Amino acid sequence: MKRVFSGIQPSGVITLGNYLGALKHFVDLQHDYESLFCIVDQHAVTVPQNPETLKDNKRKLASLYLAAGIDPNKSIIFNQSEVPAHAQLGWMMQCIAYIGELERMTQFKDKSEGKNGVSAALLTYPPLMAADILLYNTDVVPVGDDQRQHLELTRTLAERFNRQYAEIFTVPETVVLGKRIMSLQQPEKKMSKSDENQKAFISMLDDEKTITKKIKSAVTDSDNLIRYDEDNKKAVSNLLTIYSILSGKEISQLEADYEGKGYGAFKTDLAEVAVEALRPIQARFKELYESDEVDRILDAGADRANEIAIPMLQKAEQAMGLLRD
Ligand code: TYM
Repeated sequence: MKRVFSGIQPSGVITLGNYLGALKHFVDLQHDYESLFCIVDQHAVTVPQNPETLKDNKRKLASLYLAAGIDPNKSIIFNQSEVPAHAQLGWMMQCIAYIGELERMTQFKDKSEGKNGVSAALLTYPPLMAADILLYNTDVVPVGDDQRQHLELTRTLAERFNRQYAEIFTVPETVVLGKRIMSLQQPEKKMSKSDENQKAFISMLDDEKTITKKIKSAVTDSDNLIRYDEDNKKAVSNLLTIYSILSGKEISQLEADYEGKGYGAFKTDLAEVAVEALRPIQARFKELYESDEVDRILDAGADRANEIAIPMLQKAEQAMGLLRD
């Protein structure tokens, strides 16, 4: 069976963008692949995190993975920092990556631009991501399209290592999942869990009132027409995308349904659809978050991940000359 690996950063509570762009697809993929879904806490600390909040966000993310439908009997769910081979192979990947390659990453440019005290790890983030993937001989990496560049670099690093040392890594295939979900306030930016403006994103744990308020205050434009046009009507197109994925209706169907109805009615219905879609996930989340079950699943997940990762790390160390004979 082919293997899938993907990860989400616990740098906040995950958003509807993470769910529609990644997590929802993971739930389907786990039936056809041997799957590993990681809580990439070491990636999250490349920018400052409050330790208590980080711990809580990790637990929330684990609970949301499960609440959304990831089955721990089928898939491995684990915390990155509980499998030390990630950081170890990450170091080796840094040794074969070039600074120029890392400086070209748009995520690095976006996150470092105009900031003082940018961590070295923000630059070396992609080699750690490559390690995450290569440790498991991953065949397929499902991600949103904002991660495409990191995946290209992962493939480059795998090929470089294989050429320079030994053919040990599977060069993974990237599968880009669906459309990027954009900010509700600045539709030219992606919806992000670390956005300072709370109104820009819907968190998976927002209550009914908050979801409704955020959708009602989402920016639109002045022509009051519900029509998909990514170039001229970015905001409305984004709302249509969200509505379509959540309801399973085609965008053309939605355009027809809302002809002549205006933004008010459209937003009221979208808010209802979003609330209904999140309701069962939030209910299951609450049970898990407050139970010991999530700890047991994370312990077992780390054990299973270590079993795969340690021999692979040793192979890489052997190839690089880091192991004693
Ligand atoms: P992160 O935590 O930013 O996002 C997790 C996943 O959600 C997708 N995503 C989106 N999709 C659609 N619309 C959006 N607005 C949106 N925002 C985020 C992302 O594309 C991603 O698939 N570097 C990664 C985490 C990572 C990883 C890995 C992923 C670390 N190691 C190994 C895959 C394999 C990140 O920052 O994702």
